[in-house]
Amino acid sequence: MLILGIETSCDDTSAAVVEDGLHIRSNVISSQIKEHSAFGGIVPEIAARKHVESIGVIIEKALDEAGVSYQDLDAIGVTARHGLLRSIVVGAAAAKSLAYSLDIPLVGIHHIEGHIYSNCLEHGDKLAFPHICLTVSGGHTLLLLVRAINHYELIGRTLDDAAGEVFDKISKYLGLGFPGGPVIDRLAAEGRSDAFDFPRPMLNTDNNDFSFSGLKTAVIRAIEKAQRGGHDVSTPDVAASFQAAAVDVLVTKTVRAARAHGLSTISVCGGVAANKGLRKAFEAQSQTEGLSVFYPRLSLCTDNGAMIAGLAYHKLQDGMQSDLRLDAHANAPLGALKVLYK
Ligand code: KG4
Ligand code: ZN
Repeated sequence: MLILGIETSCDDTSAAVVEDGLHIRSNVISSQIKEHSAFGGIVPEIAARKHVESIGVIIEKALDEAGVSYQDLDAIGVTARHGLLRSIVVGAAAAKSLAYSLDIPLVGIHHIEGHIYSNCLEHGDKLAFPHICLTVSGGHTLLLLVRAINHYELIGRTLDDAAGEVFDKISKYLGLGFPGGPVIDRLAAEGRSDAFDFPRPMLNTDNNDFSFSGLKTAVIRAIEKAQRGGHDVSTPDVAASFQAAAVDVLVTKTVRAARAHGLSTISVCGGVAANKGLRKAFEAQSQTEGLSVFYPRLSLCTDNGAMIAGLAYHKLQDGMQSDLRLDAHANAPLGALKVLYK
């Protein structure tokens, strides 16, 4: 079964063709970073306009690279929940028009469920269920108990900023541009992680929740203090110390949640899953704790159409299908998805 997946929930315009939920025939991602970087973050109006300009071209490119035509498609999957409303609407409108004109099923997908699925897409049967999934992106930091594809239980979340958002804000404060994650990750490798003793918020609380805004404030205060004292601030040292604190909390709490549930498998997804420090820390834990930690390849960590197409296959297998009344929602909790389906 060939499914076209469309993802436009934030600043990437992406379309992909995935066969039987597993084989990626194409995954075209058009980044808008250049358009937004001057503003130090994503400008929703620009994002929506760029999606409108490129969605048709990106879909055709995805079909071309997959070596298929519109008539070969069996269904369309599209992100319809969670993200920038006007951006989601662009992808949803394209998906609905195609599903109607081709007379094939349409499946609305929750963006976060797409991220969770990215590890199933990458690793197939090797990824055991149940497992604990850490979803870390620019908009989310969630811990989930994943019992099976389509069966998730939210067990923890950030109470304030998402981890990726803090990477982006600190990068902006340091004048390092947008997005902040990749540049801080790169600089962290050149700095000393013990140069600043940044807090590890909620590290030892008796729950699976996170908090990152205090860490962000602590980093900004430390830089201000050093500057007031006339000291040069080493950007790599700040990056390394901040990243170490964020990674410490993410890894420690995820491993603790796995242990508490008697599980030895962890999956990590979302843009921050690309972070080298995070991967290294999980690697170290997996050796000492006997855990298996799974990540998708980098192009499946950040937003992409393949994860949407892949999950749409399983939704269809489970009898879930949207109709042409499919609407877009900027904020929707996981589990509110049922409203999408007939
Ligand atoms: O999943 P994603 O593409 O979009 C959202 O759904 O938010 O994630 C984007 C986020 C941004 O905050 C970006 O700074 C972060 O992922 N990110 C990283 C890295 N690469 C991307 N954060 C830390 N280290 C990285 N290497
Ligand atoms: Zn995302």
